[in-house]
Amino acid sequence: MTEQAITIPINGEEHRLLVSSNRTLLEVLRWDLDMTGTKHGCDLGECGACTVLLDGHPVLACLTLACQVDGRDVTTIEGLSDGRVPDALQTTFAELGAAQCGYCTPGMILSARSLLNDNTDPTTDEINQALSGNLCRCTGYVKIIDAVHLAASRSSD
Ligand code: FES
Ligand code: FES
Repeated sequence: MTEQAITIPINGEEHRLLVSSNRTLLEVLRWDLDMTGTKHGCDLGECGACTVLLDGHPVLACLTLACQVDGRDVTTIEGLSDGRVPDALQTTFAELGAAQCGYCTPGMILSARSLLNDNTDPTTDEINQALSGNLCRCTGYVKIIDAVHLAASRSSD
């Protein structure tokens, strides 16, 4: 297997890595960099637990090769808060009980963050569409949708 030297800016910090051509971004994040906020679910592109932002847009890290993101900005859940100040979505998910086991939560929040960055007042249909690739086995989704609406309303105050 050939190896390639890459540099990935992750949460604003550059990481230089030597990766094999079949190493996924998820493997790099979790196993090489110990950034375990990005979850390892199905590994098949079906659950959304591994969602991160690539240049601000959601991608599935389990289906993304590390060498494909050389030089591109990656945001994981570890990078979403501003120091000690949580992202508005992290606050509303906690307040409304939108996270139960929490396994889907990092991916949900990153997909929702991308939506709110583009659309500050989304409809429920738009939220459903944005989160359609993120599966949750616990919450029934209602509290998640409510948490996104609440974060949007607070951000526009
Ligand atoms: S772990 Fe990537 S979509 Fe399920
Ligand atoms: S909170 Fe458990 S899978 Fe969503």
